[in-house]
Amino acid sequence: MIATTGLKDMPLSFALSEEQRLIQETVREIAQKEFAPKAAEIDRNHRFPRENFQLLAASDLCGMIFPEEYGGAGLDHVCYSIVVEELAKACATTSVMYSAHVSLTAAPVYQWGNEEQKQRILAPMARGEKLGAFALSEPGSGSDSAAARCTAVLKGDHFVVNGVKNWITNGVEADWYLVIAQTDPALRHKGLVALMIEKGTPGFTFGKLEDKLGIRGSATCQIIFEDSPVPVTNMLGQAGDGFKVAMSTLDGGRIGIASQAVGIAQGAWDHAWRYAKERSAFGQTINKLQAIQFMLVEMQTEIDAARLMTHHASVVQDRGQRFTREAAMAKLYAAEVAMRSTVKCVQIFGGYGYVTDYPVELYMRDAKITEIYEGTSEIQRLVIANSLLKGQ
Ligand code: CAA
Repeated sequence: MIATTGLKDMPLSFALSEEQRLIQETVREIAQKEFAPKAAEIDRNHRFPRENFQLLAASDLCGMIFPEEYGGAGLDHVCYSIVVEELAKACATTSVMYSAHVSLTAAPVYQWGNEEQKQRILAPMARGEKLGAFALSEPGSGSDSAAARCTAVLKGDHFVVNGVKNWITNGVEADWYLVIAQTDPALRHKGLVALMIEKGTPGFTFGKLEDKLGIRGSATCQIIFEDSPVPVTNMLGQAGDGFKVAMSTLDGGRIGIASQAVGIAQGAWDHAWRYAKERSAFGQTINKLQAIQFMLVEMQTEIDAARLMTHHASVVQDRGQRFTREAAMAKLYAAEVAMRSTVKCVQIFGGYGYVTDYPVELYMRDAKITEIYEGTSEIQRLVIANSLLKGQ
């Protein structure tokens, strides 16, 4: 049933469909059995879990939201959100590897690409044969995307690309990179182009791997272009569409990060809940203490609210309506819930929460990035304010 509110139409029922529930059960089983046991090792060794991507590909999840003709499964974005959440509950590195591939790279090829690009670039990514990465930020521009200085100069049938891109998830490991580059700095955001650049392109090299606080297996690095030739046939949309490609891609990406934040928060909560049932203090298990109960209750209330907002944003996306505001709200709220919750979970574990014997310190470290990447919490507030002002 649909009710009209002061905001956009909101579904009153959030019950999962049979299909969504089946996806949830299947991915939960894979993630808990195959990914969770390795999460600490992946973190410790900064190891990119290639085998996890291969298993997701073998499970037909890498292109789940795209039509079957492009190697996908034609599922909705609520299913996608559920998958990212389940992955993040088990291993945040795996969830960002997956969401950067699906929503930041494959999705814009589907949304902005022509038929030839969908067959040549999207289909192998949807089948999980090729891995994607998204390159927007630069050493001198993060939040201010329009200030990108990486250049693309048109020479005949190709662009010559020069510049450096920062914080690239799936960095050295990807096969295709969606790169936003500037054709004319005087035009600012209207001069940007979106180019699909393949690993192996001449002059395309990698900087050092970043030593991060969390999501340490995601192979984050700089990518560098020196006179790299990129065929015009690899441009998504038209010249000048680059900023809109980037922003519309981030709308979808932010639902992915909101889902990731919900998963991190829920994963940490599940551990804290189990621990509170086992750990004794003052002659009883600590889950009988109101101080602990209140923390667990507040956390679960907020996590449920964050999940509802995230699914709501996915429903608006599936309806084909503009979902910029819903995605930004979900990401803003879910990221802050993830940070608050994981700090409380460490608190419930006491000293054991501060050491690596239990996984809650890892959830807390992983949570922080959700307030930073794909737009900081401050940028989400800006996006929401702009959307409200424009009545979008
Ligand atoms: N969809 C489509 N078009 C959009 C849009 C959207 N969501 N948002 C803006 N636009 C369009 C506007 O309509 C406008 O179009 P016109 O020129 O035709 O009028 C144009 O883009 C410019 O819009 P704004 O004036 O709003 O742009 P702005 O310069 O003021 O900046 C911003 C907007 C919100 C600050 C934006 O720059 C932004 O979101 N910055 C954050 C970037 C970000 O999230 N970076 C994260 C990097 S990715 C990552 O984290 C890597 C990873 O691997 C995980």
